[in-house]
Amino acid sequence: MTLTEQSPTTPQVVGATGASRRFPADFLWGVATAAYQIEGAWDEDGRSPCIWDTFARTPGKVRNGDNGDIAVDHYHRWREDVRLIADLGLSAYRLSTAWPRVQPGGSGPANARGLDFYERLVDELLSLGISPMVTLYHWDLPQELEDAGGWTNRQTAYRFAEYAGYVAARLGDRVATWTTLNEPWCSAYLGYSSGEHAPGRTDPAASLAAVHHLNLAHGLAVEAIRAAVAEAKTSVTLNLAAVRPARPDDPGDLEAVRRIDGIANRVFLDPMLRGQYPDDVLADTAHLSDWSFVQDGDLKTINAPLEVLGVNFYTPTDVSAPTEQSTRDAAGRATAYPGCEDVVFPRVEGPRTALDWLIDADALHALLLRVHHEYGPIPMIITENGMANDDYVAHDGSVSDPARIEYVSGHLDAAARALADGVDLRGYFQWSLLDNFEWAHGYSKRFGLIYVDYPSQRRIWKASARWYRDFVAAARAS
Ligand code: FCB
Repeated sequence: MTLTEQSPTTPQVVGATGASRRFPADFLWGVATAAYQIEGAWDEDGRSPCIWDTFARTPGKVRNGDNGDIAVDHYHRWREDVRLIADLGLSAYRLSTAWPRVQPGGSGPANARGLDFYERLVDELLSLGISPMVTLYHWDLPQELEDAGGWTNRQTAYRFAEYAGYVAARLGDRVATWTTLNEPWCSAYLGYSSGEHAPGRTDPAASLAAVHHLNLAHGLAVEAIRAAVAEAKTSVTLNLAAVRPARPDDPGDLEAVRRIDGIANRVFLDPMLRGQYPDDVLADTAHLSDWSFVQDGDLKTINAPLEVLGVNFYTPTDVSAPTEQSTRDAAGRATAYPGCEDVVFPRVEGPRTALDWLIDADALHALLLRVHHEYGPIPMIITENGMANDDYVAHDGSVSDPARIEYVSGHLDAAARALADGVDLRGYFQWSLLDNFEWAHGYSKRFGLIYVDYPSQRRIWKASARWYRDFVAAARAS
């Protein structure tokens, strides 16, 4: 089915054949979720509170006062949800394990009941021919660790490696690829500098310590996973910013690109893939931190060999040079880009999602090529891509989301072009399987291929789910 059949105004949408043929036969096709966003069961079977439980209970932090106590009840409905993945015809599923479930409080022995849950889940996936890709940290830091400083405390990195080792020891023989962290940019800057995410701190200097301790946690976790399973495949998922100058030839805009690229991308890519922090980022942030939290040997640990790099992509990041006004406003502003408070993020015209994110799939193509040329060749997987849409159930029971089909189609086309241009792209995971708890936006923004009627927890296929199923079927058959 092509969208063109439904709506003649969107001719660029590709159908199940044609574009799908441009992917290799062993390409991984999947959906992604994260524990806190779907599981619920927040206090069952020994799970301890995490920073998102606390943050969501803090008035004014999450829209409508929503929280993940119940979420989409995946902890109890997991078998039905795995069946959905099988019915979508997918070869892979990216899930995350909840640290507070596996190691309540973030220290001490593993909680067998927590590991049992993930073992059942993984075994069910495997029995249906679906390969599990497990993310160890998708933002649910045990609250006890935050009380001791969270990611600003170096000890958290060691605690994380211990927890990673527990999961790898139990599931290592069955998990295809291990992802240490999901989007450390969000954990560090939204969590400790802009305060938009848990734990909600607004201290730019602290967020730089968090960056380093997250990088260190990644390296230590890779070691712990390999110690448990020698042949383990390891990965990390970064939400790399596709940074673009508003005026391509303007030196001020290009300088803004350099600064944002440094603090958003290279501060993770360079230590992980090259074993060093970029000098310009250290200089840009020198007024905030002397980076003395970087200890001898850390960079070697962080530079652990990786089998694959996960890239999450949703929207480009357009920037321009500081203005007099933005420079005046910069003082004391809580920012997600420490040291870049004066950089301007101009509003670029174009189609947007329900989260007001600009849609531009060319930026994904450019981003993949950039990483390939500057850091590669390295195998990559698109570990998240998708859009928030104002979905609703029509009176006939259907959910029609042509905008999502167009979005996914356009980004798959960009991925296929990157493959044709030589990028070693191994898979694509749609965010998300189900509508779920969208962090600070609560349940107000729907990203799922499958609609969730929250009061009844009923799962309803959206048109995009059927489209993705057909696209993947054609790709796998060709
Ligand atoms: C990413 C997160 C994921 C989801 C999407 C929309 O930043 O990794 O959990 O919320 O955004």
